[in-house]
Amino acid sequence: MSILKTEGLTYTYSAGTPFEKTAVDHVDLCIEENKMIGVIGHTGSGKSTLMQHFNGLLKPTSGKMLLEGEDIWADKAKLREVRFKVGLVFQYPEYQLFEETVAKDIAFGPKNMGLGDAEIKSRVLETADMLGMDRELLDRSPFALSGGQKRRAAIAGVMAMRPKVLILDEPCAGLDPKGRNLMLSQIRDYQKKTQSTVLLVSHSMEDVAEFTEKLLVMSKAKLFCYEETNKVFRRAEELKQLGLRVPQIASVMQSLRQKGYDLPEDLYTVEAAKNAILALLGKGAAEC
Ligand SMILES: Nc1ncnc2c1ncn2[C@@H]1O[C@H](COP(=O)(O)OP(=O)(O)OP(=O)(O)O)[C@@H](O)[C@H]1O
Ligand SMILES: [Mg+2]
Repeated sequence: MSILKTEGLTYTYSAGTPFEKTAVDHVDLCIEENKMIGVIGHTGSGKSTLMQHFNGLLKPTSGKMLLEGEDIWADKAKLREVRFKVGLVFQYPEYQLFEETVAKDIAFGPKNMGLGDAEIKSRVLETADMLGMDRELLDRSPFALSGGQKRRAAIAGVMAMRPKVLILDEPCAGLDPKGRNLMLSQIRDYQKKTQSTVLLVSHSMEDVAEFTEKLLVMSKAKLFCYEETNKVFRRAEELKQLGLRVPQIASVMQSLRQKGYDLPEDLYTVEAAKNAILALLGKGAAEC
């Protein structure tokens, strides 16, 4: 069943002024439950604008936004509920931390939902654990944390609401490669554990190749495609025209294929490439 659906969704900034800009143009989408999805597209292609429609932060200029089959704008009183069901984490969310302690910051969303103290406490602990945050940190001021831990505290605050859909707009911006990988594995574990849908906006083809099942590709305000990650990367030429590229390892594998090595196509992660090369070497050794 689809959790999110858009029908001809269109959004124009500053309509009727000289600054008018259509950032999302007639997008039709059907997003499933329990999926890890990457959202890619050239800068300015409309990714963030589209994401802000999913939890009702922006209202379509025309077209529809449906959550679990219901138009989220049909009854404004229900918008609050929509924001609990679809959690949105902006870029650099750590700037939105404000409570005295990390625990209180993570508890802020669940408290707003009207949950009981015991449930809130268990969610705070469980979420901190999922993100590999030391429990000792929970009683500290969020401002005393390192950059990576601050980011986790902010993301945990939204995860603790256990939204059916979690949207993360560039959650790894500014983190070093090791930090990025750890954060993305923790996000993937969260998705598996909660069986929710996670949308990950990213500029890194390597990250989406490794961590997502499907890709939503935006180009100049339009939906270019929404399909399995592997299938999208098979369209290397088209991606190039959109100002995107396949993961670097895929280009390396292609060069090896051109040199005559019998390597399969569809190798988009370092792990998959390593296994294919090892298999080829094994074959070679057996033939000797
Ligand atoms: N508040 C705004 N007012 C006017 N135009 C805007 C506003 N926000 C975004 N835009 C324009 O809408 C278009 C889409 O912007 P959006 O931020 O959704 O793109 P994006 O794909 O998220 O880009 P990035 O990869 O840089 O984050 C861009 O042309 C942008 O300049
Ligand atoms: Mg953006």
